[in-house]
Amino acid sequence: VEVDWSLEAAEKGGHPHYMLKEIYEQPRVLENTLGGRLHEEHANVELDLNLDPARYDRVHVIACGTAYYAGWVGKYLIESLARIPVEIDVASEYRYRDPVVDGRTLAVAISQSGETIDTLEALREAKRKGAGTLGVINAKGSSITREVDDTLYIHAGPEIGVASTKAYMAMLGAMAMLAVWLGRARGTLAEADAKEFLGELRKLPRLVEQALEQRAHVAHIAEKYHQAADYLFLGRHIQAPTAYEGALKLKEISYIHAEAYPAGEMKHGPIALIDERLPVVVLTTDSPFYEKTLSNIQEVRARGGRVIAVATEGDSEARRFAQDVIYVPRTHHLLAPVVSVVPLQLLAYETAVLLGRDVDQPRNLAKSVTVE
Ligand code: G6P
Repeated sequence: VEVDWSLEAAEKGGHPHYMLKEIYEQPRVLENTLGGRLHEEHANVELDLNLDPARYDRVHVIACGTAYYAGWVGKYLIESLARIPVEIDVASEYRYRDPVVDGRTLAVAISQSGETIDTLEALREAKRKGAGTLGVINAKGSSITREVDDTLYIHAGPEIGVASTKAYMAMLGAMAMLAVWLGRARGTLAEADAKEFLGELRKLPRLVEQALEQRAHVAHIAEKYHQAADYLFLGRHIQAPTAYEGALKLKEISYIHAEAYPAGEMKHGPIALIDERLPVVVLTTDSPFYEKTLSNIQEVRARGGRVIAVATEGDSEARRFAQDVIYVPRTHHLLAPVVSVVPLQLLAYETAVLLGRDVDQPRNLAKSVTVE
């Protein structure tokens, strides 16, 4: 027994849980994902794909759980940089909605395990209808990789914690590269803009490392609110999926009920929930929509809600409106999800630990779901 314990301790790299170990691995993981694939000198990425990027005029993203939120971020990236319309569905819905697909459709299945049955079946449906297929996958040689035309591996390494962290980060990196690749092939992303964006991607591992430095501050916030019955997460545009992923992480491992909404939609319902017992996490990083989100914060405050803002370093304005501010490093606004998810992962982790939950093996959840 002793041997097993020490072995397990070694596998966790000195961390009390796999999840925490994996959260801390993220800078290195992102380095692996992006690694040799960024080529600033050619203003492009090298993805080693056989698919012809010029052939497709629409993209269908299919995924489940955390991978779905990575796909949602990917939608903004692809539509912004490559100007291709992107539809995204949870895989279990895609299968049964008789999607409109033709030979100019690229179906992108995103999956850590590569074994999720809903994702696999949705992919088969797209393929049957004539789509080109691409897997954005972590597990080498997994079922999905055997059925797609091409695979873009995310290189996150084995993920043990049931709640996904580092795989999500790696998926974001992969989707950003995919957007550059499509944008360059279609001529929608100018050389200078591509170079600048690649430069920002290159800096990300270092920025994620900086975001991790907020752990003690996040732990303090978790302490303040861990008795809350509910949490609300708000974010706009490319930070809407970040809000959903933050809520998902909290639900999965702390069992606190958490809901996410696109910030602008709050006034159409969830605003009725706001009182002094409801912590509201607002993603308010620098972006063209910053002012809009700030006014959402004021609406929450005016109704007595507790605001935890995730803001860009140097933003002193956020402090005036929020009880708590977690700062994340500045990056391109399309890459803000990458740095912003880090404090949300830590918030879920610290809250779950305070509540005595089984962080690595939350009840009722499985790492990979191979039944419908
Ligand atoms: C399960 C896991 C989630 C994961 C989802 C999709 O629900 O508990 O953490 O995001 O499956 O998994 P995949 O392997 O397809 O990314």
